[in-house]
Amino acid sequence: MARGGELFLAALCVVVASTTLALAASAGARKTVGVYELKKGDFSVKVTNWGATIMSVVLPDSRGNVSVLLVRDTVAEYVNDTSFFGPVAGRVAQRIARGRFVLDGKVYHLNINDGRNTLQGGGRGFHKVIWTVKEHVGAGDYPHITLYYRSFDGEQGFPGNLDAYVTYAVSSPYTLAVHMNATALDKATPVNLLQHTYWNLAGHDSGGDVLGHTLRLSASRYTPLDAEMLPSSGRVAPVADTPYDFWTPTPIGSRIRDVMGGRVVGYDANYVVDGEPGEMRPVAEVRDGASGRALELWGNQPCMQLYTGNWLSHAPGKGGKVYEKYAGFCLETQGYPDAVNHPEFPSQIIRPGQVYKHDMVFKLSF
Ligand SMILES: *[C@@H]1O[C@H](CO)[C@@H](O)[C@H](O)[C@H]1NC(C)=O
Ligand SMILES: *[C@@H]1O[C@H](CO)[C@@H](O)[C@H](O)[C@H]1NC(C)=O
Ligand SMILES: *[C@@H]1O[C@H](CO)[C@@H](O)[C@H](O)[C@H]1NC(C)=O
Repeated sequence: MARGGELFLAALCVVVASTTLALAASAGARKTVGVYELKKGDFSVKVTNWGATIMSVVLPDSRGNVSVLLVRDTVAEYVNDTSFFGPVAGRVAQRIARGRFVLDGKVYHLNINDGRNTLQGGGRGFHKVIWTVKEHVGAGDYPHITLYYRSFDGEQGFPGNLDAYVTYAVSSPYTLAVHMNATALDKATPVNLLQHTYWNLAGHDSGGDVLGHTLRLSASRYTPLDAEMLPSSGRVAPVADTPYDFWTPTPIGSRIRDVMGGRVVGYDANYVVDGEPGEMRPVAEVRDGASGRALELWGNQPCMQLYTGNWLSHAPGKGGKVYEKYAGFCLETQGYPDAVNHPEFPSQIIRPGQVYKHDMVFKLSF
């Protein structure tokens, strides 16, 4: 437990330090940062091009409205945010062991920002850059926003120029679709993007944790992690008879203290989603009994990370709220963690001209 805490603090320092760089670089490029709404009836989603971040998801409820995401009030607060409230992680999400990999015989060294390892693409990953707004249609049949980022050769240590697009779209009331793609322009590179929203179906300001939410996952296997949260064994193990088993609907908190034999403080685990990668299929279903609200996630990626906000501690949030441990849950569809160092996992290498595609759909109901 203590070890995890130290790693996390080390990550914080790097992230804060690199934020200044991000601002300096972006000032030179004169990119502007704004907040963009997507509205369909009484459903509202807000996005900023800072980190391609989802800033709010608001639903109607008996008291007027309810915000079901943990968020900050202003874009400025996201600049120094270290909790990953809603951005896109890239170029390669999750951890890369020792921030190092070999591709086509060449060794690459990445920005190290989590103990000895690289986390979420480095301290200044895709979550700490300004994306370009390509298109924004705020209302009508298909409210959507398309964001674009050209990642440069050597950025955070990754090879080659890469074009990345993220589209957020409200396709019907209470449904938010996320479409991401990336194209390698001149060199082969690993790519693994993810979207990192924290949900609390009781409402961001409910003051409660999500341990009572009921979770069902379409995943019968997971990748066990070591003390540095790396899949060093390369194993894919059944969830049956472990605290990771959410095959049948189960409260998130019911076995949370048994995760990794109690050595970590909650779920931060990669599941292998059942079914055919590349095809849209059900991934997760979450229900909050008290409010009657539910969230269904569909996706086309091989895996999904379940994270239960284990490291949230007095995190400042919207409207003066403070988010504590387990105040939200994240369902992050993704490729296998550290695949670039594990030939036994499906490859994430995109060669020039090849396209990476990642789609997910969040369907809310109440
Ligand atoms: C609720 O949200 C809708 C849609 O964004 C907005 O039009 C309305 O003013 C909000 N109502 C309240 C009571 O905040
Ligand atoms: C972000 O952190 C830097 C360095 O600590 C600080 O100078 C700046 O005021 C902070 N910005 C915001 C919006 O809090
Ligand atoms: C990636 O997405 C953007 C925005 O939707 C789209 O214009 C582009 O054609 C897509 N690229 C590929 C290669 O599919």
